[in-house]
Amino acid sequence: MGAKKIGVLTGGGDCPGLNAVIRGIVRKGVQEYDYDFTGFRDGWRGPLEGDTVPLDIPAVRGILPRGGTILGSSRTNPFKEENGIRRIKENLAKYEIDSLIAIGGEDTLGVAARLTDEYGIPVVGVPKTIDNDLSATDYTFGFDTAVGIATEAIDRLHTTAESHMRVLVVEVMGRHAGWIALHSGLAGGANVILIPEQRFDVEQVCAWVTSRFKASYAPIVVVAEGAMPKDGDMVLKDQSLDSFGHVRLSGVGEWLAKEIEKRTGKEARTTVLGHVQRGGTPSAFDRWLATRFGLHAIEAVRDGDFGKMVALRGTDIVRVPIAEATAKLKTVDPELYKEVGVFFG
Ligand code: F6P
Repeated sequence: MGAKKIGVLTGGGDCPGLNAVIRGIVRKGVQEYDYDFTGFRDGWRGPLEGDTVPLDIPAVRGILPRGGTILGSSRTNPFKEENGIRRIKENLAKYEIDSLIAIGGEDTLGVAARLTDEYGIPVVGVPKTIDNDLSATDYTFGFDTAVGIATEAIDRLHTTAESHMRVLVVEVMGRHAGWIALHSGLAGGANVILIPEQRFDVEQVCAWVTSRFKASYAPIVVVAEGAMPKDGDMVLKDQSLDSFGHVRLSGVGEWLAKEIEKRTGKEARTTVLGHVQRGGTPSAFDRWLATRFGLHAIEAVRDGDFGKMVALRGTDIVRVPIAEATAKLKTVDPELYKEVGVFFG
């Protein structure tokens, strides 16, 4: 019997640190356990269509500081594809894959949990999302980088807002959870922070904006893309759905700036940070966390501990059942939001 062969894939929205995980997995797996690796391209599309890339130590050299993922990513949902699970099983057999490591967020890991629990395909999960909204782990890698980028943008927007004495609305990512908005808004000294967990009152936002002008400062309003007004629906530019049924967010920032202008008579502009938050080199913290996740994921494979996800608890990396970890989103506690509210207005 040859060496064990492990398949690795990255799914969902990309995130700084993915390459650091891949490198950690391959370096430890080859050096300590003599494993062979196969990279599957573009998330679950790779095993579904048998699209592979070689994954060995030369392939992971120099990738630690690189953003994106050398394996590519997609939001392919095999449960939505004809004979999806049968095709995955056939391809795993064809490439003689003993087990898989899936690096992804809620959706990619949701598939991983079902593949292990319902279809007996051995998968270990690694949590990833800049939104930091996976329960069971204190932090996901990519979040720290995104917060750093958003904070730098807010710092820069302060000076231009003050030069023109106008309102600057900054739309950041955060589909269901306002972690990026909360952390970057606090770190950047925003005057209003709006998160998906709590519907906002436009009148209240305008009152904060006005009080900030009264203090002779220009207001910065940070709004998570998933935040919603108290009266009305989610503001969207685009209604299309991905294969996990998610709408493409963005639009609330533009909408809010118009409302503020209309209601306060003050000039307002919007900056949508978008994918800038996801691109480029990971922060030192994200490289550290992603590397440790990689090292612990390969250990879980060695232990045959499938259906588990690695997670950060304090400074320890632990293993938790994927199904449990993806069942509930980690959202911002109302008390924490209230605490930050002292800086509003
Ligand atoms: O899920 C992470 C995330 O960053 C969300 O905050 C955002 O809505 C989504 O990705 C956008 O991803 P894409 O443009 O790749 O579909």
